[in-house]
Amino acid sequence: MSIEPKTERHALGHRMKRKEDPRFLQGKGNYVDDISLPGMLYAAIVRSPYPHATIKGIDISEAMKVPGVKAVITGQDLEAAGLGWLPTFHGLDKQMVLAIGKVLFQYQEVAAVFAETRAAAVDGAELVQVEYEPLPVVADPFTAKKDEVILRPDREKKTNQIYHWEVGDRDATVKALEGSPKRVSQRIWFQRCHPAPLEPCGCVAHFDTMGRLQFYVTSQAPHVYRTALSIVTGIPEDKIHVISPDIGGGFGNKVPVYPGYVCAVVGALKLGRPVKWIESRTENLTSTGFARDYHMDVELGATADGRLTALRVSTAADHGAFDAAADPTKYPAGMFGVVTGSYDVPVAHAEVDAFFTNKAPGGIAYRCSFRVTEASYAIERAMDILSDELGIDAVELRRRNFIKKEQFPYPSVLGFTYDSGDYHKTLDKALEQIGYQDLLKEQAEKRARGELMGIGFSTFTEVVGAGPSKHFDILGIKMFDSAEIRIHPTGSGIVRAGTKSQGQGHETTWAQIVAEELGLDPQNIMVEEGDTDTAPYGLGTYASRSTPVAGAAIAMAARRIREKAKKIAAHLLEAGEADVEWKDYKFQVKGVPAKSVTMKEVAFAAYTNPGPNEPGLEATNYYDPPNMTFPYGTYIAVVDVDRETGEVEVRRFLAVDDCGTVINPMVVEGQIHGGLTEGFAIAFMQEIQYDAEGNNLNTNFTDYLVPTSLETPHWEVGNTVTPSPHHPIGAKGVGESPNVGSPAAFVNAVIDALSPLGIRHLEMPVTRDKVWRAIRDAEAAR
Ligand code: CDP
Repeated sequence: MSIEPKTERHALGHRMKRKEDPRFLQGKGNYVDDISLPGMLYAAIVRSPYPHATIKGIDISEAMKVPGVKAVITGQDLEAAGLGWLPTFHGLDKQMVLAIGKVLFQYQEVAAVFAETRAAAVDGAELVQVEYEPLPVVADPFTAKKDEVILRPDREKKTNQIYHWEVGDRDATVKALEGSPKRVSQRIWFQRCHPAPLEPCGCVAHFDTMGRLQFYVTSQAPHVYRTALSIVTGIPEDKIHVISPDIGGGFGNKVPVYPGYVCAVVGALKLGRPVKWIESRTENLTSTGFARDYHMDVELGATADGRLTALRVSTAADHGAFDAAADPTKYPAGMFGVVTGSYDVPVAHAEVDAFFTNKAPGGIAYRCSFRVTEASYAIERAMDILSDELGIDAVELRRRNFIKKEQFPYPSVLGFTYDSGDYHKTLDKALEQIGYQDLLKEQAEKRARGELMGIGFSTFTEVVGAGPSKHFDILGIKMFDSAEIRIHPTGSGIVRAGTKSQGQGHETTWAQIVAEELGLDPQNIMVEEGDTDTAPYGLGTYASRSTPVAGAAIAMAARRIREKAKKIAAHLLEAGEADVEWKDYKFQVKGVPAKSVTMKEVAFAAYTNPGPNEPGLEATNYYDPPNMTFPYGTYIAVVDVDRETGEVEVRRFLAVDDCGTVINPMVVEGQIHGGLTEGFAIAFMQEIQYDAEGNNLNTNFTDYLVPTSLETPHWEVGNTVTPSPHHPIGAKGVGESPNVGSPAAFVNAVIDALSPLGIRHLEMPVTRDKVWRAIRDAEAAR
């Protein structure tokens, strides 16, 4: 089935529906920082200037003298209360809430100050005297690997290696590579970057008069927070109410539980007053979940005519001081196994070795399904390097190796079963839409004049919708998702889900699914998420899982309602249930279209005249997906590089996506535009850099750049529709596809432009400076 918009009201775009909540007193909006509660205190965190140091002592006496400061807590205080450490999401490690004994990264949380005003809390934090004794710094995973300095003596294993993970057939891959007529290899680094949501993280913790924790927080996964808070603090889960209002963007950054949240809860408990903690931009960039930082050695083998024979990828991953990567428990390297991409690779092996370093923890899924972006970048870059080696056009090489339409469902050699796809069709559509032949002609003319023009491709495949409960869990909780729908007597209704929109437009699309399944007006379906007291338990929104999992739960709950409504319709139509069918958005007696009732009429009857049926019209569904969904796309970037200055102009960018059935084209287009803008920033501007001493060099938005409309190129989009065979409405996720697919297209385009100079690879971000130096060096060498 398809739920392409049939009427104007099906394409409403972004439509906010939220409760008017009297607790948001300042009237600015619905953000955590807008909350003001009587007697509320503010928390500020003391952070370490050293990346690695022993704490010799902490003196809070001066801080306590600041007017308005009520209390200061340290790691020792928390440890004494049994709250010293937080479990990280996949349960493989734990993280200090406040430093105990030593600090392991610059800006690590050392103490928390609680005061009557935000200013007093900050003043107090500045006066907390901490005596440090610096220790040797481990600033990269290759140094960490040597184990000369052991960063985490608290762990049983006295090594900096966190884990080794591998998939595929190592021996067969080595053999196939050795026997391949052509081989290329390249170290490819996906640099450390940061989701940098426009609102940083924050919370308000408040124990109400019943002693129940009311916890307002910027969380992408409110139910998981409730469970995690209960585990960490010992507060029974029914005494915790987590509310995620508008969270100001998340992009994966607001999945982990951060020390500031625990400090706020402890402060509220200790002082008996509400506590607000809102981090600054610098705190967000320096201490909350970073993304990527994968050093990938990629090797591809091929026949002389460009058939892939083998793929090997060996990765050193920099996880920082604690292993706080937000990955499902059984997947320490996330979905990196999708590294064979859209290609029919006969044999492959992928391995990831993760290491502790003196950097901020994270490795979160920044608009990405757990390391898919790294995997996609590796294979798409490697395909271009191979195309260069073989002298085969990058498009032709991809076409020769694509998984064919008839091979779906396709079992990849690294363990995934791709659900559906028609890669050739999507590629052809993109080539036609961008006018590839004309671009090639133009490029040849420009090259003849010595100008540098590049055309870059990325024909990526994603894996989203975590996930089937037999494989996927977080903290042991299976990664299903849920929906509850109530239809009111007058035919309007409410749908509640365990997901949490951060701008993805669930308010629109969830209503559309209900409306489509039940023949009701989407305008009158209220959508509610982010409140653990009302929404059924769900694992939240990240990794483009909302549509594949919660979207399916909503469709299935709606179908349950339809089943029940059919019984009531039969009663109203005075017909046997078997003689009633759902057709043209109505129940009608089979073969007698004139004898029909609408869902609105049935809804009224459900409360006024249900006949022999149980009254009411509501249903809940917990959906356990049978498989992941595999959206994909062809992205094409066209760039001009200025030979004198190294300036890259992205002249055109086309994204042709296939996310199965599209619920709302306008929402999907918005997702693609946003994700491309982030992918563009990663490719050209963004890196969280550390110097050799472990100092973070990108602590604010003048050093860590966020693109504005001035730099951002114009985006062209297109789509094909290959429904997922196992999803109730055939939809696959889409939110992260543009972030996953686009970096390789940008970089491939730049390298294509520079290829006449013999340049084969540059690391991201491809800054003007880097390009200029590469051109200068290449020209000097000639
Ligand atoms: O999990 P998240 O909401 O970030 O990602 P998603 O499932 O890819 O959905 C992003 C937005 O696009 C949601 O509002 C979806 O309902 C919408 N969407 C759509 O309209 N059609 C699709 N096939 C996939 C997503």
